[in-house]
Amino acid sequence: MALASELKARGKDIIDLSVGQPDVPSPAVAVKAAQRALDAGFTRYTASSGIPDLRRAVAGRYRSLHGAEWQESNTVITVGAKAALFQLMQTLLDDGDSAVLPTPSWVSFGEQIRFAGAQPIEVPMAAADGFRLRAAPLIAAIRPNTRLVLINSPSNPTGGCMDGDDMGRLVEACAERGIVLVSDETYEHFVYDGRRHVSAAAWSAAFPETVTVVSSFSKTYSMTGWRVGWVVGPAALIEKIAALQSHLTSNVTSFAMSGALAALQDAQADVDRMVSSFEQRRRLTVDALHALPGFSCRAPAGAFYAFPNISDCFSEGRHGSVLWAEYLLHKAGVACVPGAAFGEDQHLRFSFACHEDDLKQAFERIRRILPV
Ligand SMILES: Cc1ncc(COP(=O)(O)O)c(C=O)c1O
Repeated sequence: MALASELKARGKDIIDLSVGQPDVPSPAVAVKAAQRALDAGFTRYTASSGIPDLRRAVAGRYRSLHGAEWQESNTVITVGAKAALFQLMQTLLDDGDSAVLPTPSWVSFGEQIRFAGAQPIEVPMAAADGFRLRAAPLIAAIRPNTRLVLINSPSNPTGGCMDGDDMGRLVEACAERGIVLVSDETYEHFVYDGRRHVSAAAWSAAFPETVTVVSSFSKTYSMTGWRVGWVVGPAALIEKIAALQSHLTSNVTSFAMSGALAALQDAQADVDRMVSSFEQRRRLTVDALHALPGFSCRAPAGAFYAFPNISDCFSEGRHGSVLWAEYLLHKAGVACVPGAAFGEDQHLRFSFACHEDDLKQAFERIRRILPV
């Protein structure tokens, strides 16, 4: 991203498919609610766990959609999912601990685990079945010093999801060992081909001490810059996270929470529209990438990234995802993310949360610079 911005600043025409954010505006209801809150002078500190209405609305959503028994006391509003995860790692992990993590995985997971003094135990998921998240290898990787298993379904960067059988088995295995399952469901609404998102929340009533879910307004409502996310889980853990937050950020921006509440209550139509347009962009992206010589690309089950294997393009002089991402940036003017950033050097990640014309042009530019 830094290199792409530098080239752009120097006047080069770059199509940026590296960014992890939808291109549509935030919902109008959210914008208006935040403006109203500002006009009404809602600009002071709030309770550090978040405004009660928003905490209740988030908990209520899990009750109605997934049969959870979570209430306001099980919910803390955080500065995006990133801060939620960071605070969770700080609360649950200590020096000498470990955390089980399926890979390829989002760049911040491993760093956050290490920053808390613990070691990630990385468990590779198989490319052959679309990086589907499987419980068995994760359970087998749990060690006596493991404090949590951290999953992300749908996954950034692979789009791989966990199905209900695997989720049930994983929750039970964590509960038997007295460890926590942290489920990052940031991309929960972005699932395709008629699939339904499987939330760990559906097991929270049966295993209330085990299941912890993180999610966010960022991707679902195209509100990445607002910085509003949440954690739901056991009340005692939520209290500790809120205590840490009170010394860290105090609270999420007051009027951003007002906007977020309006989005949660009234923006489902915006979400549905966005997801159905992403379904079309996904098809376009996967077909175009798969047709490129040396690229092999499956349709991701969820999220909004294509993650093709490009190892057939590797040559002695240009081997590995980093050199290939740089090559595409300099020669084709297309920015993507090297798979090495996620622990998988044979792949590149392309976001399809971009305008269709940009996607078409980007893949045509790549086609022109590849040897046939
Ligand atoms: C898997 C995953 N979790 C969390 C986040 C952070 O999201 P937020 O903007 O809510 O902090 C991202 C953002 O890219 C992500 O991909």
